[in-house]
Amino acid sequence: MRTLLFMTLCLLSLAKAREDETAAYEPTKFFNTQILPILENRCFECHSKKEEIDGGLNLDSRAGWEIGGDHGPAVRPHDLKRSPLIHAIRDHDSDSAMPPDEKLPAIEIALLETWVLLGAPDPRTEPVADAKGK
Ligand code: HEC
Repeated sequence: MRTLLFMTLCLLSLAKAREDETAAYEPTKFFNTQILPILENRCFECHSKKEEIDGGLNLDSRAGWEIGGDHGPAVRPHDLKRSPLIHAIRDHDSDSAMPPDEKLPAIEIALLETWVLLGAPDPRTEPVADAKGK
């Protein structure tokens, strides 16, 4: 009886762990907890309507990176190679390295790459039109 109870408890806690795991990979939650803080801390200073919009690129809305900056869309969902944002954070020897001053920590680069590979989930719906081109 005791063993059965123990096993049931184990199974229940496993099921709970699974639930938590699934929750951690829920796309909106992943964006809000892992990606948005990086953009806020590292990019908004130069790429948001509250501060400045350098290179024509607005990163404070989904439409911002979809429309992109002076050189077109900044992120192509699922496609690291064709996402200028990824090149900018990864190749820090190039002229268009971002952020311009200091390379991001490896974990933040990995998270942004993961985000693009997952299809760039981004629940932010505000339009970007009025903020662009300032
Ligand atoms: C200190 C200001 C500053 C910060 C911080 C900054 N950028 Fe930029 N960014 C610029 C400027 C200026 C340009 C335009 C000139 C250039 O391309 O070098 C630009 C251009 C870009 C472009 C190219 C846009 C285009 O279409 O030409 C991308 C992509 C980009 N930034 C991504 C980022 C990301 C991602 C972050 C945060 C990890 C970031 N930047 C942080 C100043 C900044």
